[in-house]
Amino acid sequence: MIDFEVAQKVFKEFLKDFDVEQDKVRLKIIHTYHVVDFAEYIAKDLKLSNEDIELAKLIGLLHDIGRFDQAKRYNDFRDMNTLDHAELGVKILFEENKIRDFIKDDKYDNIIYKAILNHNKLKIEDGLNEKELLHAKIIRDADKADNFRVKQEEKVETMLYMESLEKIENGVITDKIYEDFMNSKIIKNEERVTPLDYWVSYIAFLYDFNFNSGLKYVMEQDYINRNIDKINYKNPETRKRMENVRQHALEYVNKRIGK
Ligand SMILES: [Fe+2]
Repeated sequence: MIDFEVAQKVFKEFLKDFDVEQDKVRLKIIHTYHVVDFAEYIAKDLKLSNEDIELAKLIGLLHDIGRFDQAKRYNDFRDMNTLDHAELGVKILFEENKIRDFIKDDKYDNIIYKAILNHNKLKIEDGLNEKELLHAKIIRDADKADNFRVKQEEKVETMLYMESLEKIENGVITDKIYEDFMNSKIIKNEERVTPLDYWVSYIAFLYDFNFNSGLKYVMEQDYINRNIDKINYKNPETRKRMENVRQHALEYVNKRIGK
C-alpha cells in the first residue's frame, strides 16, 4: 500500500537538511509538487487504478530528490557540468535504503527505481516491463509539462546561465539545432552550443510527450507563444527562425491533440 501523506511528511523531513531559502532549492520544491499534480492528472486521464495513481504521485514526489544535493554541492543544475541527478536520486533512495522511509512495501521498488533513473534521459532505456514503462512515461510527461511553467516563470538569464540578457537577445541558433527542431526532433543536450540552442531545445520537449494530456495543458496555458515571446530576438535571422519555430511547434501540437 502507498501512503502518500506519509511520504510527503518524510519528504519534508528530508528537506530539513537543505537551505530551502536558496533559490535553486526553493524552485525545485515548487517543481516537485507541480509534478506530483501532473502525474496524478495524467494517471487519472489514462483511467489507471487507484494504486497506479498513488504510485505515479509518489514517483513525482521522489523523481528529483537528487536535485537538492546537486544544488547544495554545485549550485548548478546542468547535469553535464556536475552529475546525473537521476542517478544520484536512485543512489540516495536505494543504496542507503531511504526508500523504506517513504514506502514500507518493497513491491514497487523496481518501478520507482527505473522511472526515476529514466526520467531525465534522452530516451527510456530498453528492457523495461509494461508497468515500469508506463510509470517511466508518466513521470517524463509530468516533468516536461511543468518545465514549460518553469521556463515561463523564471528569469531567462538564470535559466540559460548567462549574466547578461543582451548576449541572449543578440544570439543565434545553430543550424543543426534549428533543423532538428523543424524536423520535430528532440535535441541532444551535447549538441547545443549557444544559449538560444538551449532555449529551442526546451521547446523541443514538445516532441517527447508520450500522452496528450501534457500537451493539452501546454496549449491551454499558451506556453509555446509565451515562452517564445519572453525573449526579444534582435538578430533578424534569429527572429525569422523563431517565428518558424513557433509556427512549427503550434502545428505539431494541434495535429497531435486533434485540433
Ligand atoms: Fe529531474
